[in-house]
Amino acid sequence: MKIDVVLGLQWGDEGKGKVVDVLAETYSVIARFQGGPNAGHSIHFDGKKFVLRSVPSGVFRKGTINLVGNGVVLDPLTFKEECESIKAAGIPLEERLFIGKKAHLILPTHRIIDAAQEAAKGKSKIGSTLKGIGPTYTDKISRCGLRVGDILSPNFMERFHALKEKHIAYLKQFDFEYDAEAGEAAWLEATEYLKNFNIVDEEYFANECLDNNKKILAEGAQGSLLDIDYGSYPFVTSSNTICAGACTGLGVAPRRIDKVYGIFKAYCTRVGSGPFPTELNDSFGEELRNRGYEFGSVTGRPRRTGWLDLVALKYSIMLNGVTDLIMMKADVMDTFDTIKVATSYIVDGEPCNVFPFETQAKIEPVYKEFKGWKKPICDVRSESEFPYEFRVFIKFLEDELKVPISIVSVGPDRDQTIIREN
Ligand code: GDP
Ligand code: IMO
Ligand code: MG
Repeated sequence: MKIDVVLGLQWGDEGKGKVVDVLAETYSVIARFQGGPNAGHSIHFDGKKFVLRSVPSGVFRKGTINLVGNGVVLDPLTFKEECESIKAAGIPLEERLFIGKKAHLILPTHRIIDAAQEAAKGKSKIGSTLKGIGPTYTDKISRCGLRVGDILSPNFMERFHALKEKHIAYLKQFDFEYDAEAGEAAWLEATEYLKNFNIVDEEYFANECLDNNKKILAEGAQGSLLDIDYGSYPFVTSSNTICAGACTGLGVAPRRIDKVYGIFKAYCTRVGSGPFPTELNDSFGEELRNRGYEFGSVTGRPRRTGWLDLVALKYSIMLNGVTDLIMMKADVMDTFDTIKVATSYIVDGEPCNVFPFETQAKIEPVYKEFKGWKKPICDVRSESEFPYEFRVFIKFLEDELKVPISIVSVGPDRDQTIIREN
C-alpha cells in the first residue's frame, strides 16, 4: 500500500486541517510528519469547531489510527491540554493516537529561548509563534535534544536537568527576564500523561501499516514557502514542510509515496514577517481578512492578505511534485467585482518567473484580472452549480499550473467540499 501526502503550498493556514478531516474517512492511518504546536489546524463539523496543534486531523474519524511522527516536535503540556479537550468531546483518543519515540520534546526552556531570541532580533523579528519550535529543532540538529522515548528511560530526570542547565547558560547572553522554574512541574506531569498513549517506533509502525494494506495519509503543517530550505529564509519555520519531509519525518521511503495533494487558498495569507509580493494593504486586503476570518488559529494575530501568486504556487508545485490541487476559500471573494492573480514578477526592473533568493528584492507582481462571479458559492455542492466566471477562473489556473484541481472547498464545514469528477 502507498502513502499519500497533504500539504500547504503557501505560507500556512491553507486549510490543511479541514482537508485532512474530509479525506481521513478513506484512510486507515493519518500521520503528522513535521512541525509542532506552531500549527493550528481547524476542523468544523456538526456545528462544532476544533483547532488541532500536534494531534493529527484524523482523530475525529472512527477507526483511524493517528500517528505523531519523528519529524514532529512535541510540547507535552500543550499536547496534554489538546488531548483533554478532544477527549472531553467524547473521542476515544487512547485507541486512536500513537506517538513516535523519536519525536523531539519541547522543554519549557526552549520556549524561553525562542522568546529571548525573537526579542533580541528587534525590527528583524521572524514573527515566530514562540512555541519553542526553532530552539527544539536546533537541539535536535546539535544532537543534544530529548525525545519522547527518553521519558521511559530511568535517567530521564537527570538528562532533563542537564539540558535545562545548558539552556540557562545559553540564556545568559540575552538581556531577557524569565523564570526557568515556571511551568516546569506542570510540564513534567504532562510527560507522565504522555505514557497513557501508545509510544511506538514510528518507522516500523508506518512501514508495517503499509505492508498490511493500511493506507496512510501524511499531514503537513505550515506551508512550502515556510520550508527551512526553500522558504523565504530566514522568515521560515525550522522544519522541512515540503513532501520530502514526509519521508524523513515518518521513516518511509520516497517510492512509497503516491499522491501529493497540494492545498492553496484562492488568494494568499501570511502571518509573521517576510516577503509577500502580492500583499494588499488596502480595502481589498481588509475585506479578504474580514470575510475570510484571517486571524491566526493559534495566536489570533491578524494575517496579512493578498492576491493569489502563481509564481510562488508553481515553485511549490515543483518542490512537492503535486499530483492534485485543492483550492480553498474562493467563497471569500464571492462579492468581488474583479479578482487578480499574479502571473509573473518584475524584479529590479527585469521580468522574473522564479521565486527570488533575495528576501530584500523589490518585487512588483504582474497581474491578470478576472471578472468576479458575484454569487455566493458556499451552498454549491456539485461542480455543475459553479457560476460561469468561477469556472473560467478554475480553468485558467489548471491550464497555468498543469495540475488538476481535484477538490474545491467553499466553506469551513466538512460538507462544503466538492470532489471534482475528473
Ligand atoms: P490550516 O492550518 O492549514 O489547517 O488552516 P487554518 O485552520 O489555520 O486556517 C484555515 C481557516 O479557514 C480555518 O478557520 C478554516 O475553518 C477555514 N476554512 C477552511 N476551508 C475554508 C473554505 O473553503 N472557505 C472558508 N470560508 N473558510 C475555510
Ligand atoms: P499551520 O500548520 C502559518 C510562521 C510564523 C512565523 C514563522 C516561524 O497552521 O499552517 P515558528 O513558530 O515556526 O518559529 O514561526 O512561521 N508559522 C505559521 N504560519 N501557519 C502555521 O502553521 C505556522 N507555523 C509557523 O507565523 O512567521
Ligand atoms: Mg493554521
